[in-house]
Amino acid sequence: MSVGDEREFTALPFEEKYWPDLGKFLEIRQKSLEDIEAFWDERARQLIWIKHWDQVLDASNPPFYRWFKGGVTNINLNALDKWIGTSVEHKVAYYWEGEPGDKRAITYGELYREVNKFAWVLKEVIGLKPNDTVSIYLPMIPELPVSMLAVTRIGAIHSVVFSGFSAQALAERIVDAKAKVLITADGFYRRGKVIDLKKNADEAVKIAEERGVKVEKVIVVKRAGNDVHMVSGRDYWYHELIKEAPEKAYVKPEPRKADDVLFILYTSGTTGKPKGIMHSTGGYMTYVYNVFKWNWDPQPHDIYWCAADIGWITGHTYIVYGPLMHGVTQVMYEGAPDYPAPDRIWEMIERYGVTIFYTSPTMLRLLRRFGDKWVEKHDLSTLRLLGSVGEPINPDVWKWYFTKIGGGKAPIVDTWWQTETGAAMISPAPGLALVPLKPGSATLPLPGIDADVFTPEGKPAEPGKKGLLVIKKPWPGMLMGIWGDPDRYIRTYWERFSKPEEGIWIYYPADYAIKDQEGYFWLLGRADEVLNVAGHRLGTAEIEDAIVAHPAVSEAAVVGAPDPVKGEVPVAFVVLKEGYEPSEQLEQEIKLTVRKIVGPIAVPAKVLFVSKLPKTRSGKIMRRILISLIKGRPIGDVSTLEDPSAVEEVKRAVEEFKKLMQQS
Ligand code: WT7
Repeated sequence: MSVGDEREFTALPFEEKYWPDLGKFLEIRQKSLEDIEAFWDERARQLIWIKHWDQVLDASNPPFYRWFKGGVTNINLNALDKWIGTSVEHKVAYYWEGEPGDKRAITYGELYREVNKFAWVLKEVIGLKPNDTVSIYLPMIPELPVSMLAVTRIGAIHSVVFSGFSAQALAERIVDAKAKVLITADGFYRRGKVIDLKKNADEAVKIAEERGVKVEKVIVVKRAGNDVHMVSGRDYWYHELIKEAPEKAYVKPEPRKADDVLFILYTSGTTGKPKGIMHSTGGYMTYVYNVFKWNWDPQPHDIYWCAADIGWITGHTYIVYGPLMHGVTQVMYEGAPDYPAPDRIWEMIERYGVTIFYTSPTMLRLLRRFGDKWVEKHDLSTLRLLGSVGEPINPDVWKWYFTKIGGGKAPIVDTWWQTETGAAMISPAPGLALVPLKPGSATLPLPGIDADVFTPEGKPAEPGKKGLLVIKKPWPGMLMGIWGDPDRYIRTYWERFSKPEEGIWIYYPADYAIKDQEGYFWLLGRADEVLNVAGHRLGTAEIEDAIVAHPAVSEAAVVGAPDPVKGEVPVAFVVLKEGYEPSEQLEQEIKLTVRKIVGPIAVPAKVLFVSKLPKTRSGKIMRRILISLIKGRPIGDVSTLEDPSAVEEVKRAVEEFKKLMQQS
């Protein structure tokens, strides 16, 4: 992406009605940064608390910042209970649609009653207590938000695991979280097929037990009606348990301290072990409530659709907690975006009259490839705001989204953030003031967010120069830490640029960025050994560990290769053990191993067999060389290489790969 080329493009005419107050926005932001505590104090008061805080920000033990110290609340009070007795009670919370076309409409009142019943079950039948952890492995069905809310209602902690993850990946997350209860489903629909989720869940429970964590109860939602094996005394049908709850069940929301853990969500890091990101009750609630309002300016008649999966942070924040705290009506969809035809999404936008649509560049690139005729079949004129998340959006896709989907009238809200940040950090905020947009830029940091770009040495980078993104002040949506691993929390996010002896703490997201002359941020992708595949983070180490689990493999190095749809795809360089020969079959076996250990999203696009990998004299794989070759960039200094002939090997393999890609 070239910054200069796009700078002149203004998406909307510079008329007062479109850009009324860039100045107003900058002023709000300036003021917020002068006194972040006063700023967030006022914003947190817009929510319901059981007890207000004694201190807005406890910074006595950095980087373990604690927000709203002394405050007590429960997120259910703001997402559900506050709507009861108001007109929102009778408003639809979710228009849910299954992939085969089956439909449900659930009002806020119905959601409230279902959550209460399930909370009653979890408490009275299952015996869950506050601070217990619960793993949730569910597809995109209404029981997923119901489960999350029921768990947080009783003060327990949920750990949602994306339904596309394998049994082993689920087991690893169950073990790390020490979850005694698992909520799952029989199966779900994906591209017309039934995916047997319960089978994965059973296998995961078995593996977890072998590793010393016994899941005592498994609750199974009946979704696809496929045959499942129910273990007596361990497995219970959700619908049968719900019948046990009194019709008017009411479970008082458990009072939670602002700095009690609300949930854990695992994300990939630079080692093979995923990180359990912990979010806080009071800080996350406050941040998400405000940012949702700034991003979408929700109005009573909006029909909002975030087409992410709740298994990722985008779904937690923008399908469950954010929209419910604003009483928004949503569309929620189970299946594939191009099933049964490439216009499934556009058809649904038209049918539901969606006004706000939020998706990823990968989804847009995928749907655009089918041709504009699929878009043109539908009236999309209800759309008033369009969102993008997960990866940099290429300016040409941005323009297509803006003109073809939004009809040139819906601003694009490109939101930069991470699992760790709770909600958007750098993005337009039409709910506050709409600033001029630049295709490919996530625009400006939100109020209360002190973002900057540093050189590798830790000095502010010059405007227009590529550097590393940093956040210089704490914010309420920030992670509390990594579950069970405080040292890794410090190492991963704070060590890079902080100067503890001077009391300076800088959050490091590990993203490249440019800040241009007008202070606009251009996010340029990961700066660590983490890939961004279709908007999802994948650690190269995680994939490498899976590959070397295959008995024929001696060594593996995974790097990201550019992909026209997914942004990036994993490509594996593999050295085989003595006595094994490269073959098509071996490649398939290695791919299958990754699918089993991590999940389908992590399967390498290609396995390239080489006899050696470029290494330093101390034996470290020179990943930089592999990346340069795959991206077609000069390989730079190779003087530290132990055996320069390894480069030739890799070059040959990369050329073979590129030929293959051109053919497909
Ligand atoms: C990484 C975080 C936050 C929800 C989805 C991903 C990349 C995210 C953008 C954007 C450019 C983006 C970054 C970030 N990213 N949004 N708008 N423009 N890059 O969450 O799995 O925690 O990944 O996604 O590299 O660090 P995640």
